[in-house]
Amino acid sequence: MLDFGGQYNQLIARRVRELNVYAEIRSCRSFDLDQILNGGYSGIIFTGGPDSVYADGAPTTDPRILDAGIPILGICYGAQLITHLAGGTVSRASEGEFGRTEIICIPDALFRDVPVKSICWMSHTDLIEKPAEGFSVTAFTGKCPCAAFSDSSRRIYGVQFHPEVTHTEHGRQILANFVFGVCGCKPSWRMEDFLRTTVERFRTELSGRKVLLGLSGGVDSSVAAAILHRAVGNDLTCVFVDHGLLRKNERQTVEKTFGPMLGSRLVVVDAGSRFLERLKGVRDPEKKRKIVGEEFIRVFEEEAGKLGHPDVLAQGTIYPDVIESGTGDSAVIKSHHNVGGLPEDIGFRSVAEPLRELFKDEVRALGELLGLPEELVWRQPFPGPGLSVRVTGEVNKEKLDLLRVADAIFCEEVEKLGRDSRPSQYFAVLTDTYSVGVKGDARAYGCTVALRAVTTDDFMTAAWTRLPFSVLETVSGRITSQIPAVTRVVFDITSKPPATVEWE
Ligand code: XMP
Repeated sequence: MLDFGGQYNQLIARRVRELNVYAEIRSCRSFDLDQILNGGYSGIIFTGGPDSVYADGAPTTDPRILDAGIPILGICYGAQLITHLAGGTVSRASEGEFGRTEIICIPDALFRDVPVKSICWMSHTDLIEKPAEGFSVTAFTGKCPCAAFSDSSRRIYGVQFHPEVTHTEHGRQILANFVFGVCGCKPSWRMEDFLRTTVERFRTELSGRKVLLGLSGGVDSSVAAAILHRAVGNDLTCVFVDHGLLRKNERQTVEKTFGPMLGSRLVVVDAGSRFLERLKGVRDPEKKRKIVGEEFIRVFEEEAGKLGHPDVLAQGTIYPDVIESGTGDSAVIKSHHNVGGLPEDIGFRSVAEPLRELFKDEVRALGELLGLPEELVWRQPFPGPGLSVRVTGEVNKEKLDLLRVADAIFCEEVEKLGRDSRPSQYFAVLTDTYSVGVKGDARAYGCTVALRAVTTDDFMTAAWTRLPFSVLETVSGRITSQIPAVTRVVFDITSKPPATVEWE
C-alpha cells in the first residue's frame, strides 16, 4: 500500500490481512519507483489522503508506476491521483459527498458478485470529472459521475468511495476481487507469520542493545513485552509502576504472568505512597491527571537510571494511538499520550513499537497466540491515571480500597454474562455525594457508588449499555451489604457524547 495520508489507511491494510494476504504500508514520500519495482509486489493499493491533487506539495508518486505492469487499485485520493497522473481531470465538486451513498456499478473484474445497485461510503470534496484516456467509468452516484474506473488491459482500477469501511455494503468483496481476482494473490498469510517476522525484525534491529518497557498491565504493553522478550530475551527489562491507583489483583496478574518469563528483569516499583502524597488535597480532575502523569515519568526515569540507562524505550503503541496523533500526511485529530504519558526525550536513543500497525482485536489475537492468560488478553481498557479519575474529588487510600472492592464486585457480575455479551468497558466510580440510608435498624449516612457500562467500537463515541436489571440488582445488593460505607448505588445512563466514558 502506498500511503498518501488518509485516515483509513491501516484499515485497508487490515482488511487485506483479513483476507489472509500480507500487506505492508509504505509512505509515498520515501518509497521510490525502484523500490516498488524491486519489491516483488503482487499489487499496489494507493490509499486515500486529505489533500487535493492540485495542492502545493500534495503527496504523489512517479507516474511511470502506471506502466510497470503491476495491478493498482486507487482509493479516493488514490483514484484521483491515478487520474491526474494519467492526464484525466480532477475538479472541486460544487458540494462534497459524505457518508452513505447509493452507487450504481457496472459489472467488471472489480465488481464481480457486487449488485448493480448498493450502498457505499463516500468522503470527498474533489471528484474525477473525466477519467484519463484508456480508462472507462464503471460506477457512478447521484453526485459523482465517475465513482469508479478501470483500465483492464493495464489492470488499473480506481474507486472514489471507501471499500474498507463496513458501511460500504460490498467493500470486502471489492477488495477480495482486487486482491485475488486481479492480483492473483493466495490466502496464505496468518497472524503466526506476523509474529515470526516481527520477532525476527526486532531481533536484528535491537541486537546488542538494552531495551526498557513500561508494563501497564494492559493488553498492549503486555503483548509488546512478550514479543520483545522473544526477540531480545535477557536484554529486555520491564518496569511496572504500582502507583496505588490500580484495580484489584492487577499487580498480581502482572507478577504472575511476567515474573516467570522475566525473573529479575521484571522490576515492580512500589510507588503508591509517593503518588498519594502528591495527590493529597487535589480535587481538580485535570490536576490529578497531570500529577499522575508527571510522577510516572519521574519514577520511570529513576528506574532507567538505576538500570544504567537502557538505550531503547519499548512501548505498546497500537495503530489507533498513532493515527490520532497524525502520521506523515494524515491530519492530527488529537495528541495521544503514550502509555503512562512517557515523552520520547527522556534519554532513550530510539523507540521500539512492535504493535504500531495493529488494531486492538489483532493485538488480542497475538496475545492469545503468545499464550498470555485470558484475563490479561481480554482486559478492558484502563486509563493511565488509574483510579484517581474514578474517585471524584480528593483521592485517599481508604476511598481507593473501597472502590477496588465495589469495582471487583461489579466486574465479577458483569463477566458472568460471557465474553460476547459483555459491554466494551464497565467499572465503578466512587462519587463524593453522600446520602442517607438505613442499615439494620439504624440511620446511615454513606457514600454513593456509580456503575458505568458502555458499548462502543472505538471509544470515540459510546452508548450506555442496557445491562439486565437482574445484574444491576445483584451488584447493588452485594456492594451495599459488603461495603458498610456505601448507602447508595446508581447506574449511569449517559452516552458519549455528551458525557465521556470516564467521570473525570
Ligand atoms: P473518555 O473518558 O475520554 O475515555 O471518553 C475514552 C477511553 O479512553 C480511556 N482513557 C484513557 N486512557 N490514558 C489512557 O491510556 C488516559 O489518560 C485516559 N483517559 C481515558 C477510557 O478508559 C476509555 O476507554
